[in-house]
Amino acid sequence: MPELDGASTLVTGGAGFIGSHLVDALLDRGARVRVLDNFVTGRRENLAHLGDSIELVEGDLRDTDACRQACRNVELVFHQAAMGSVPRSIENPAESIAVNVSGTANILAAARDAGVRRVVFASSSAVYGDSPDLPKREGREGSPLSPYALSKKMCEDLGTVFHRCYTMEIVALRYFNVFGLRQRYDGPYAAAVPRFVRAYSRGQGPVIYGDGGQSRDFTNVADAVRANLLAAGAAGAVSGRAFNVASGRQTRIGELARIIRELTGGGPEPIHEQARAGDVRHSLADLTASGEALGYTPRHDVEAGLAALVEASRPSVAGAR
Ligand SMILES: NC(=O)c1ccc[n+]([C@@H]2O[C@H](COP(=O)([O-])OP(=O)(O)OC[C@H]3O[C@@H](n4cnc5c(N)ncnc54)[C@H](O)[C@@H]3O)[C@@H](O)[C@H]2O)c1
Repeated sequence: MPELDGASTLVTGGAGFIGSHLVDALLDRGARVRVLDNFVTGRRENLAHLGDSIELVEGDLRDTDACRQACRNVELVFHQAAMGSVPRSIENPAESIAVNVSGTANILAAARDAGVRRVVFASSSAVYGDSPDLPKREGREGSPLSPYALSKKMCEDLGTVFHRCYTMEIVALRYFNVFGLRQRYDGPYAAAVPRFVRAYSRGQGPVIYGDGGQSRDFTNVADAVRANLLAAGAAGAVSGRAFNVASGRQTRIGELARIIRELTGGGPEPIHEQARAGDVRHSLADLTASGEALGYTPRHDVEAGLAALVEASRPSVAGAR
């Protein structure tokens, strides 16, 4: 792990699900933390427990002045802000490209001008697109299946180009289906884990898009956070490259529903709806490269993580919020 005591850091998207856990971890290690967020999907509650211990820049990635202000005097940038969600990007492709791609170019340019030591940024397993290979291995990507996937691929390419043109240190982390507390269960674009926990906590059957035979590599948010800290400190030839971050275990969506159903004490069968455009059929990460280059190995068992999430979600998830 890198020495972070006193380090000056920026977390874009720090009010979001993964970003807010990363903020907590950085503060725990003695770092100074600034957050850039426009709260489009992030929540003030995710930062409320921190009081004045962070500096908040409320602003938009698409605003170059906000990006410059956020990067000023910063050593390390953890760039998490983006419009997530494949279906959201299919509804609004221009938004995905503007926020994710132009926004990332703005942050990288601001980081370059501010002399930032390293940028670690959130990419996605979506970049594997239509590649049929399993497990998914860095260097064996297919064609993107959605504007979101394309936007993340373009961000990775931007990172490589900035690394080459400006000798900046930039590391991309390809998260595979991260889950944990603070992940949104509301709205049309919510991910499977919080939707299923929410539905079963209310005694309802969750909606599964498609037959449930599709699979994902579900990753505990604590592992995603650790991967960021490792990437911030990794020595050697990591810059300009992208690494998988996952649990390395394949779980079918139908199985996920069954596990959560048991953990919540039972409930009706899932309701099957039409499969969604842009969704890949199977996903499982090869973790060889991230293990060798970053020292990353997943520490959290998926079922234990789901059990802890169900337990911790009981009072808030069942409410009518
Ligand atoms: N959650 C996952 O399973 C997963 C998987 C792969 C990749 N990712 C990536 O990880 C990152 C974090 O995802 P998350 O699940 O925490 O999502 P999230 O929506 O909870 O967090 C994103 C944050 O970015 C902020 N944001 C969005 N647009 C912004 C803009 N224009 N300007 C400033 N702030 C903006 C949001 O308000 C939010 O706080 C994203 O880049 C996402 O694409 C997530």
